[in-house]
Amino acid sequence: MSEFSSLGLSDWLIKQCKQLGISKPTPVQENCMPAILQGRDCMGCAKTGSGKTAAFVLPVLQKLSEDPYGIFCLVLTPTRELAYQIAEQFRVLGKPLGLRDCIVVGGMDMVAQALELSNQPHVVVATPGRLADHIRGSKTFSLSRIQFLILDEADRLLEQGCTDFTKDLEVILGVLPAKRQTLLFSATLTDTLQELKNIAMNKPFFWESKSETRTVEELDQRYILTPEKVKDAYLVHLIQTFTDEHHDWSIIIFTNTCKNCQILTMMLREFNFPTISLHSMMKQKQRFANLAKFKASVYKILIATDVAARGLDIPTVQVVINHNTPGLPKTYIHRVGRTARAGRNGVSITLVTQYDIHLVHSIEEQIQTKLKEYPVVEKEVHKILTQVNVTRRECEIKLESTDFDEKKEINKRKQMILEGKASYFLAEYIHVSNKAVIV
Ligand SMILES: Nc1ncnc2c1ncn2[C@@H]1O[C@H](COP(=O)(O)OP(=O)(O)OP(=O)(O)O)[C@@H](O)[C@H]1O
Ligand SMILES: [Mg+2]
Repeated sequence: MSEFSSLGLSDWLIKQCKQLGISKPTPVQENCMPAILQGRDCMGCAKTGSGKTAAFVLPVLQKLSEDPYGIFCLVLTPTRELAYQIAEQFRVLGKPLGLRDCIVVGGMDMVAQALELSNQPHVVVATPGRLADHIRGSKTFSLSRIQFLILDEADRLLEQGCTDFTKDLEVILGVLPAKRQTLLFSATLTDTLQELKNIAMNKPFFWESKSETRTVEELDQRYILTPEKVKDAYLVHLIQTFTDEHHDWSIIIFTNTCKNCQILTMMLREFNFPTISLHSMMKQKQRFANLAKFKASVYKILIATDVAARGLDIPTVQVVINHNTPGLPKTYIHRVGRTARAGRNGVSITLVTQYDIHLVHSIEEQIQTKLKEYPVVEKEVHKILTQVNVTRRECEIKLESTDFDEKKEINKRKQMILEGKASYFLAEYIHVSNKAVIV
């Protein structure tokens, strides 16, 4: 492995890295940074937790220090939490420069963001929807001189999932200069390679880590075959075992819907597990607060939807549990990548029902690894089965008595209106019912 200095980084940056415990470049850094410093577009595909963030943050800071102005660099990312994490890396590594960053994400004060944007920050880190809104509505800032456009989790930004970023990306790309460097990173770039090449047009330098498997060696990947109605009992049993045996372990549990996330959180709290949740039906401030408490190990268990599947870097996470088997191998790769980061060990356990077996096969085929069965003392699980299922039902009833479903309905209609699919009258209805909810 080479040193940072031989890759062309300045001493002040190397010193900053050392202070953060980053002394030798990882392969994605070693390979992509020289190309970026030479001024080339770059596409980097490397496993989860392998240091892709620093692979783009460091060269941008180096270039910025040579010719500082704002707005110099725009980073786009699919989730709000990830935007904050990336901005934090820029801030810490760029401290000696007096770096000014601006985070532009949904769910936060738009006026404050507009003010910050007009102050010409060096780096803007944004989710596409909110940035596109600012571009459509304001003439107080310009992205026409940016040197760098970075798409972190680039494949997610271009795919048409439940949140479709493509229209917002069009708006953003429309105001960027053609002469710029475009950098694209993800652990799963290859599926959307052609679309990505259209964005990074200048014969991009492409680097992919050479490895048969797509998940890291340090990750112990397991599964438990379970009937649907025994799933929660397994979950409680697993958490009980981990918390009994390891006091310093944090666990992320992924589940498929916001409602399930909420119910599981309530249920695990009934069992006195220090549990907190993260999903898109929560207010943004609550989302940030919950994540901060989990990061600080105030709560050891985070239950999340796929909003937390990509990019988040929380070194204390030792276990990832998939409460549902992910439908896409790509989602599996990102979810389990929340543990075993930067050379650490980790365990992932996927709960699999008989209807999910084909999903496991396609995951195994993609990652080129066989999941191993996780040994459980069945007797112990059956002992708690009734208690767990009764507790879950009680939590479901409790949640039904709140306005959780109603809020979901309102959010859905709001989205339809934004997309122009619903009428003015519906907008009025929501206006009224929103007030009712707030009251
Ligand atoms: N050269 C290095 N040496 C040691 N640790 C590093 C190095 N570079 C980065 N790290 C650390 O590794 C961790 C993971 O880095 P990062 O979040 O950039 O991974 P990633 O490749 O973007 O993963 P993901 O695909 O999940 O987003 C971070 O805590 C980061 O500080
Ligand atoms: Mg990342």
